[in-house]
Amino acid sequence: MFDPHKIREDFPILKRKINNYTLIYFDNAASSQKPRQVIEAIKDFYENHNSNVHRAVHTLSQEASELYERAHDEVADFIHADGMEEIIFVRGTTEAINLVAYSWGLRNLKKGDEVIVSLMEHHSNIVPWEILSKLNGFNIKYVGVSDDGTLNYEAYEELISEKTKIVCFSHVSNFSGVINDVKRIAKIAHDHGALILIDGAQSVPHLPTHVKDLDVDFLAFSGHKMLGPTGIGVLYGKCEILEKMEPFQGGGEMIREVLFDSITKRCTITWNDLPWKFEAGTPNICDGIGLMEAVRYLRRLGMENVQAHEYTLTEYAMKHMLECQKIEIYGPEDASAKCGIIPFNVEGFSSHDVALLLDNYGIMVRSGFHCTQPLHAIFKLKSSARASFYIYNTREEIDSFIEVLKEIE
Ligand code: ALA
Repeated sequence: MFDPHKIREDFPILKRKINNYTLIYFDNAASSQKPRQVIEAIKDFYENHNSNVHRAVHTLSQEASELYERAHDEVADFIHADGMEEIIFVRGTTEAINLVAYSWGLRNLKKGDEVIVSLMEHHSNIVPWEILSKLNGFNIKYVGVSDDGTLNYEAYEELISEKTKIVCFSHVSNFSGVINDVKRIAKIAHDHGALILIDGAQSVPHLPTHVKDLDVDFLAFSGHKMLGPTGIGVLYGKCEILEKMEPFQGGGEMIREVLFDSITKRCTITWNDLPWKFEAGTPNICDGIGLMEAVRYLRRLGMENVQAHEYTLTEYAMKHMLECQKIEIYGPEDASAKCGIIPFNVEGFSSHDVALLLDNYGIMVRSGFHCTQPLHAIFKLKSSARASFYIYNTREEIDSFIEVLKEIE
């Protein structure tokens, strides 16, 4: 039984008082809180198993290596990948997208090619492509967003052509929470021989993810938004594509051999197996193990139940927010079209003022433009406040939130 009140008991921070109010944490799209199981896994690693991985034959290194590899395996299972060869641990979504841009894009995109990016994207799925296009001279074509915050799907039919090499978009918008139809765009892209890269930062923590069913070539997501530690994230890539790619960074771990040739006076280098070919240097071992614990926690809850719980909260919150005369909500009106994210403004107040007023009552929401300036421009907004929910949020918390919003009005 999915019981947020019981789940809350696993999250020590939720007992905190802010200004004498019990903390209400509605900034989950920025980063989630951590259950004690994850905190304890991190503590246990440093207290009992800490060592480097894949470098020594001693007991601690064997244990650390075994845990770190298992973490890749369990993340692979969580998103239904074929195996740990397809799971590269990185710092987060941003690094995962940059890995694809530099490792794949630098060598495969040239003048005359096109990359399709949506205007719904977080800056991390826009900026790397803009930087790279200045180096390699390819063109970027942007897909617009409709008034209700959904992607302009017809534009994909028009824009994707034989020139298109990769199509980059988010599964769930970090601004509106809208869930995009990945399969529909994947089909158009693949029919034209293009790859797709999905920003899964706001989807993997909240929805069941099946990379094979979605037919994604690359999927990027962050551990810290799904109960895991900061500084650890994942790039999923189809094995056959990763095999053909050159490494992102050079260093230890990612090589099999470095041989100095006395005739050419140069080193010849062969790469390690996947996924290690893309994990140069000592990896973030402990946080990878923390992420494994987070994934275990979410699997025990069941991702269908996570999604259903967030839907219930979102529908409830939107209904009551819309009863407030001065509140405007952006994005789809139907809660079933989105994950638990509600962007809004209160007439007569800046988004930062709203966030600060809520903070007085211990309620945390994000304000600003949430790294989505082009999308805010489409909605003609300078900024917005954003409430975003997760597994431990409750209807009672939403009631308190609405009460404060009514007071602000
Ligand atoms: N990308 C995160 C957000 O949307 C930080 O808040």
